[in-house]
Amino acid sequence: MTDLAQRWEDRVMRAAHPIAFPALLASSRPVQRVPGLGVLVRDAALLRDVLMDSEHFTKNGPGAPSDLWTPVLGPSVLLNMEGADHLALRRRLAPLFSPAYVGALVEASLATSMAALTRRLSAGERVDVVAEAKRNASAMISQLVGLRAEAVDDSLFRRVSSITRVVRLSRPRLTARQAAEARAVLAELTAHARDAYRAGDESTVPGRMRALDLGEREAMGAVGAFVLTGTETLVSYVPRLIALLSDSGWMPRLAADRAGVEPAIAEGLRVTTPSPVMLRSATADASIGGVRVRAGERVILATFAANRALGGFDPEANPAASLKQLWFGAGSHYCLGAPLAMAQVRATLDAVLDAGGAAVVDRAPARGVLIPSYERLVVAR
Ligand code: HEM
Repeated sequence: MTDLAQRWEDRVMRAAHPIAFPALLASSRPVQRVPGLGVLVRDAALLRDVLMDSEHFTKNGPGAPSDLWTPVLGPSVLLNMEGADHLALRRRLAPLFSPAYVGALVEASLATSMAALTRRLSAGERVDVVAEAKRNASAMISQLVGLRAEAVDDSLFRRVSSITRVVRLSRPRLTARQAAEARAVLAELTAHARDAYRAGDESTVPGRMRALDLGEREAMGAVGAFVLTGTETLVSYVPRLIALLSDSGWMPRLAADRAGVEPAIAEGLRVTTPSPVMLRSATADASIGGVRVRAGERVILATFAANRALGGFDPEANPAASLKQLWFGAGSHYCLGAPLAMAQVRATLDAVLDAGGAAVVDRAPARGVLIPSYERLVVAR
């Protein structure tokens, strides 16, 4: 990665996590116990081993994501489940992420705004890619909850991110008040989803869930999980990818030859790792890379550190190819929304490249957020 691209990525990470980011990179030991936090894993192969071993490491024990999400979303929303129930729910939701369904969803929610993006850039306008990504995320939420896109605005995105903004590694639980506020935001969203579910209109995602035989509670939980996991990650990644391409000089290369688009997207996901850390709880005594882990201990999988260890953004050498998409996780909890995320990223990058590419003219990293992102990233041709 050029110095410029690396410098900006570091600034984005540090603006979000001024203490945790430098602390997690301070040592290069593959596994280490950090008093008060848990066992920290920084090595890609060991990290994958933990993700694949759901017998010893789960998402629903002490210190795991269930502590955070169960009070908000209820007990059965994939990201706090394990075992047979988890697998059964994933199987039932799988048709929603088939290439045909995802293609139609992206087309319905984004086609008009993508064409407008190309037109505005081609006309020489300055465009804030973060505002675009937020609007697109809101349009996608509206599809997921069965609302018309026009009914959803940026304030919806702000309310969703107000839920995650308060989460920190050292404070991985919401207070009772925060959990109540988060439930209120989600209740507002799922009220629409419930109507769409009950109407059984298969042109909406909740209606389709009903046709897939999901009970109403399961369907509403899934909607909440999609909204929480799928919006900020994309609002983080799309602008960071555009910035990386501009800062590294790759944008004009891709505009001239699209063959490099897929490795560029993968490399961008590797060096940014929008979901920078995953958490697990040890259910029994175990060992990770020779370090003993006791039952009940928290395991912090520092995916971003493992991914960064392979060097800077380089779509030509494409070291990302060796990681089997670790940035989307691995094993039973592998990102269910990955096909939707990839379709949205490709659509936005294509829209920018159709205008001949764009360069960053102004930007500001977002401060104090859970998912490192830009607050503003203004680009122009
Ligand atoms: C660039 C964008 C995205 C990234 C980097 C990302 C990353 C991840 C990662 C790392 C996990 C696994 C977490 C773990 O094992 O602890 C995950 C799970 C998940 N993601 Fe994504 N995600 C993205 C976009 C989306 C979107 C758009 C959706 C939308 C619908 C989504 C839905 C989910 C769900 C439902 C899970 C939980 C799966 C389970 O526990 O079985 N994600 N994601």
